[in-house]
Formats: sequence, C-alpha cells, structure tokens
Amino acid sequence: METRVIEVDLLDDCRKVYKEAASVLTEGGLVAIPTETVYGLGADALNTEAVAEVFSVKERPSFDPLICHFANAKAIREYVEIPEELQAMVDKLAKEFWPGPMTLVLPRKAIIPDIVTSGLPTVACRVPSHEVMRGVARELGRPIAAPSANRFGHISPTSAGAVLKELGGAIPMVLDAGACSEGLESTILMPCLDEKGKPAVRLLREGPITREKLRGICRVLKPGKGKAAEEEVQPHAPGQLKSHYAPTKPLILWNPREEFVPEDGVAYGLITYEGDSPLAAQDCWVETMPLSPGSGRLAEAAVRLFAVMRAMDECEEVQAIVAEELPETGLGCAMMDRLRRAAAKRGE
Ligand code: TXA
Ligand code: MG
Repeated sequence: METRVIEVDLLDDCRKVYKEAASVLTEGGLVAIPTETVYGLGADALNTEAVAEVFSVKERPSFDPLICHFANAKAIREYVEIPEELQAMVDKLAKEFWPGPMTLVLPRKAIIPDIVTSGLPTVACRVPSHEVMRGVARELGRPIAAPSANRFGHISPTSAGAVLKELGGAIPMVLDAGACSEGLESTILMPCLDEKGKPAVRLLREGPITREKLRGICRVLKPGKGKAAEEEVQPHAPGQLKSHYAPTKPLILWNPREEFVPEDGVAYGLITYEGDSPLAAQDCWVETMPLSPGSGRLAEAAVRLFAVMRAMDECEEVQAIVAEELPETGLGCAMMDRLRRAAAKRGE
C-alpha cells in the first residue's frame, strides 16, 4: 500500500486536510495523526472493523485497550456515564487540563464498541491540545480511537518520519505537522473514590501532567510500594507491560555518577541528560547523545527522549545503549517510567 504523507501547516486553513483525513476514516481507513504527545494511529472509534485493523497493523494484543480522542470535552458526554459523586472532580480536571495531555478512564456507554476497550466497562478519553487531531475529530463527528503510531512495544513516534519508519506502506495516510511538543504519552488517570468515599484519581500512567501539577486539583491515590502496589494498579492499567517503548538494541539504565564497566567487544552508545556527567566523561562510548545539552531541562529532555532513543537505535556503530538515570521529579518520573520499560527484558 502506498502511504500518502500530507504536510499540515497550522498557519494555513487546514479544513480541507481535516476533511480529507475524516473521509479516509469514514471509509474505515487508518490515518496517522499528530497530537502534542506522540503521533496516533487513528480509526473511527465506532467502526469495529477499522479498530480491528489498528490492532492488526500495530500487531497489538487485543487485551490492550485504545484511547478515544474527542474534539472537545462536551463531545465526550455522549459516550460516558460519569457517576454523580465524581462529576465535580472530572469537571475540574477537564477545565484545568483539557485540551491537553491528560487521559481520563471513565465508565463507558454501550455505544463504544467492546474492541476499543478490550471489553472493559471503562473507556479512556482525551481531548488533545493539538489542532490537527481535534480538527479531524470535529470533521469526523465521532471519536477517533488512536494508540501511538508504532508497532507494538516499539518506541512511540514523535515525528511523521518516525511514523513512516514504523508503519510506512501499511497505512494509507499520515498527516505531518512536524515534531510533537510534549514528546511523552499522556498522563492516564482513573477517577475513583478513596477509602473514605471521597473523589480521587488513580495514576495509571505517568506523563506530562505530573503529580506536582495535579496537587491542589485532586487527590492522587498512592499506589503504595512493592508488589502489592502492582497488584493494585495492574487490573486497572491493562497494556502497561513492563517491557515497552523498547529499542531493538539492549538498553541499560545507569547512575551518571557511577563508573560504567563496559563488556569487552561491545560498542556502547550513551544517552546523557545534560552531557557533562562523570559517566559522559568516560572514554568507552562510540556515540553520545544528550537529551538537554548544557541546560539540563526536563521539559526539553522529554521532547527529545523518544527521538534520541530512536536515533541511537538506528546508529550503526552502536550495539548496546546506556541511558543516564534522570532526576525523578516532575517530568523525570514519566521519563524514568519509559526508560525502565525500555530496559526491561523482552517478554517480561
Ligand atoms: O498521548 C497518548 O496517550 C497517545 C496519543 C496518541 O494520544 N496515545 C497512547 O496510546 O499512548 P497507547 O495505545 O499507546 O496507550 C494507551 C494505553 C493502554 O496501553 C492502556 O494502558 C491505557 O491506555 N488504557 C486505554 N483504555 C483503558 C481503560 N479502559 N482502562 C485502563 N487503561 C486504559
Ligand atoms: Mg503506545
């Protein structure tokens, strides 16, 4: 199949492009669409065959549910049933973070097909801030089910070029609006009641809406520590597999202040944070790529993380990747989550 790439310049009137993409979706086709987080592989969420095609193209297991994207928060009402006791908190979250990189897992109405939610009674909803995804959803007049536009378990694409490397030839259309401004997948929250019956959220996936940003807006339930925590969260977060976001080469996480002892005969590439750590000063690297050169800004590192992982993976000389551990505050938590998953052995 030939993949058409349509460049979208947000300074132009993009309505024609949105209509064209919406007509591909209406016919059951798939379109890769940019969002502020990562590129999504979109299908009409109410068309079960199109959604099945998403799973097939991505080689994604059917137990891993999809996120539905809406043109605005009001459009979600038709598809979910929010319990009265959670309504005020959901409204507050929506007002604060939508449009934006927040996904809310809410009880669904029957109109959402089982295949979208892997049979769960809830559906993941998001109103992205990226005009292109919202524009296409508006023209389609239905939610767009869209996982990240990569093959299952691979690194999420943050540019149209990365989408083409993952899915070129397998899908009919890619909308190219350049690089994603956040670079990390949305924060996933599940509104629920806490042990005292008060509204709270479970943090199912760390992302650009950090714990710090949620403070003062709603209570975030502590997952607790150790295995008990995993058992608590796992049933609510299907698809959050330990091994994910993975390059094809082995990736090792390393403390930037500790000496790395390379294995003989292995060519290592280093992903550094700022670029001036003791680890970066070692002479065993065939390639070094900083996430936030010089300035050490988590927001800059987040935007570049997946692109740098991809570049390192594509670097011919490099056989194994070492990535510096990042400070676990703010966006650093979401990045460390992705890096830990990338470092986990396949099949875990
Ligand atoms: O930023 C994002 O969220 C991007 C862009 C395209 O919007 N999308 C994305 O989708 O990251 P994906 O498919 O790679 O990750 C979706 C994850 C699933 O793996 C699952 O963990 C969670 O969302 N999810 C979806 N529906 C859910 C549900 N009903 N209950 C709990 N978790 C759900
Ligand atoms: Mg994904």
